[in-house]
Amino acid sequence: MRTIRSPKKMSQAVRELVAAGKTLALVPTMGALHEGHLALVDRARKSADVTLASIFVNPTQFGPGEDYLNYPRDNRRDLALLRERGVDIVFLPQVKDIYPEGFETYVSVEKMTQTLEGASRPGHFRGVTTVVAKLLNITRPDVVIFGQKDYQQALTLRRMCLDLAYPVKFIIAPTVRERDGLAMSSRNQYFSPEQRAEAVCLIIGLRAARKAFKAGETSVRAIGELIRSEAKTVCPTVKFEYVAVTDFETFAPLKALKKGAMISLAARVHGVRLIDNLRL
Ligand code: PAF
Repeated sequence: MRTIRSPKKMSQAVRELVAAGKTLALVPTMGALHEGHLALVDRARKSADVTLASIFVNPTQFGPGEDYLNYPRDNRRDLALLRERGVDIVFLPQVKDIYPEGFETYVSVEKMTQTLEGASRPGHFRGVTTVVAKLLNITRPDVVIFGQKDYQQALTLRRMCLDLAYPVKFIIAPTVRERDGLAMSSRNQYFSPEQRAEAVCLIIGLRAARKAFKAGETSVRAIGELIRSEAKTVCPTVKFEYVAVTDFETFAPLKALKKGAMISLAARVHGVRLIDNLRL
């Protein structure tokens, strides 16, 4: 496995691989890797000849007061995991490589980033789309893979790739969950064991919603209340930021539940902000 830090060298390596007739799949990450990321790597390996992963904790997608400085960073561990999983090249740029002095060009997807995560975290998606546009420009992959846990992010990036004509196959891979159902997330590391046990409250709420839908419930409001109350039985202090029901493909808000709809939520569990979702 090669580790490349400079964007120029990365682009050069890509040019050589393309000249040799190889196809490339990219898994962009911010490190603090877990099995969810590694499942994306497995998917990448099946999708192209050469597997690239990037590790870059992107400052522009964190708001003031968010966890940019404390975000878990352990390159040694991450690189070992990626090597073990068969990644060929890791792109590991520094902030000054991605945001050179005087940087002032951003990419933003306008409408679908205004709601849910976009409303809770102003500026977040502008940071995400800008860095991913740049990673795509540097690595020019044939395939790029994101996880469905960050569903609004995945749809936003898919929109960007379509709108800006990135010649890339866009894959959204299923969420990987812990044995008890908690969606894997780098932020799960912030929990003590007792708090971690209660973090399962979100998927318990979502699964209760799916059960209620199967039993005939179609009210968005009732399902939101059910999710909140079920979650509170497991974690009495959980604080929801939103529960939303949207069309799975278009992200349009729905007035009533229907098969295939997406339920997304964000909540603070013992102060840690988590998101999760489930498709009906
Ligand atoms: O999902 C993430 O880890 C990040 O938002 C991404 C896509 C790597 C951009 O920094």
